[in-house]
Amino acid sequence: MMPKLKIDNLTLIFGRERETALRMLKEGKSKADILAATGCTVGVKEASFEIQKGEFFVIMGLSGSGKSSLLRCLNRLIEPTSGDIIINDTNITQLNDKQLQQIRRKEIAMVFQQFGLLPHRTVLENVAFGLELQGTPPQERNQKAAEVIELVGLKGYENQHPSGLSGGMQQRVGLARALANDPEVLLMDEAFSALDPLIRTQMQDELLDLQEKMHKTIVFITHDLDEAIRLGDRIAIMKDGEIIQIGTPEEILTSPATEYVSSFVEKVDRKAIITASSLMETQPVSAVFRKDGPEGSLRKMRSTGLNILPAVTIDKHFLGFVYLNEILEVKRRGDKTIEAVIHREVPVAYPDTTVEQMLPFIAETDKPVAVVHPQSNKLLGLISQTALIIETMGTQTL
Ligand SMILES: Nc1ncnc2c1ncn2[C@@H]1O[C@H](COP(=O)(O)OP(=O)(O)OP(=O)(O)O)[C@@H](O)[C@H]1O
Ligand SMILES: [Mg+2]
Repeated sequence: MMPKLKIDNLTLIFGRERETALRMLKEGKSKADILAATGCTVGVKEASFEIQKGEFFVIMGLSGSGKSSLLRCLNRLIEPTSGDIIINDTNITQLNDKQLQQIRRKEIAMVFQQFGLLPHRTVLENVAFGLELQGTPPQERNQKAAEVIELVGLKGYENQHPSGLSGGMQQRVGLARALANDPEVLLMDEAFSALDPLIRTQMQDELLDLQEKMHKTIVFITHDLDEAIRLGDRIAIMKDGEIIQIGTPEEILTSPATEYVSSFVEKVDRKAIITASSLMETQPVSAVFRKDGPEGSLRKMRSTGLNILPAVTIDKHFLGFVYLNEILEVKRRGDKTIEAVIHREVPVAYPDTTVEQMLPFIAETDKPVAVVHPQSNKLLGLISQTALIIETMGTQTL
């Protein structure tokens, strides 16, 4: 599939001696060395990545790591020093001003941290402003504005002025204004950072709801890993102008690429993010087949050293668990099958079940947790109680 956005070897250098700085960068000199030698600041260093249509892509990193610089290059609010930015199949680094304006109006919209609202205009007029600039007739633009105002939950506030609104509401106006042009790509620079924590969480939820409906391509900056994890399909982590890791929230948490990434990750509540798929043991899932009978089951228990095993059908559909003592009992009775001693009333997890959702399983059962395919009920793996308990303590680093 063709990516919505392709960023290829993008570099941004601030300062006069950009040529020298660029050459030093290619020689592998550090941001600090380049600053000392040339007075130039490396804003973005050789960034290459792709963003898919409909993806929620988060850029995170400490203050000064180059997040805003990178984002502003994407619509050429800042001119990149070198590299390409391709939206759909248009290389926007090669567009003239007029074409660029067209792209900014139709394809890419930006939402800023400080809302940038026009104080003397009403909410409706603020939201309709972009359409007004494009020469959309009043009735049409007001109708469109009213639509997006409703979408962001501000119906009833159309005629208020921004100063009368709370921070969260002002941010919604900013978002509605960006959405009014129906852009394909939304760039959001620390859009929620100025909001207090409760409102912020609420805005995150609403943005996710909106995204369910709109399927925009969103590039969202934050310096808050919790926010990045809640929102992002993938997260890019920046340091000193460089992207040092890109991955899903779970990939970032379970295998941080560097110390810098680990230092973010340590503070995160992993329970809501780590899923069954990364905790489960798949090799080997020592299952007894229903057809094995007591003898076969005992053989498998002896060879694995386990006294609880999952029971499955011949094509690996999960049935439940069997216990050593009960298998022995069945054998003593002379039964030919283990049918009677399969414990079927056990909780199962799906690959995307989080540790948080599995917490009740710790109290409820002494058995491992079976991870099954949500449709077919095939046994995919097992999570031991030990692994689950350690994970819920949440303090260890992997
Ligand atoms: N206009 C500018 N002129 C010179 N240097 C700049 C300019 N804008 C940013 N920089 C430098 O570029 C680097 C990246 O800054 P940028 O604003 O992109 O970081 P950021 O990750 O967005 O930080 P924050 O979280 O504080 O917003 C920093 O070293 C900064 O000092
Ligand atoms: Mg910034």
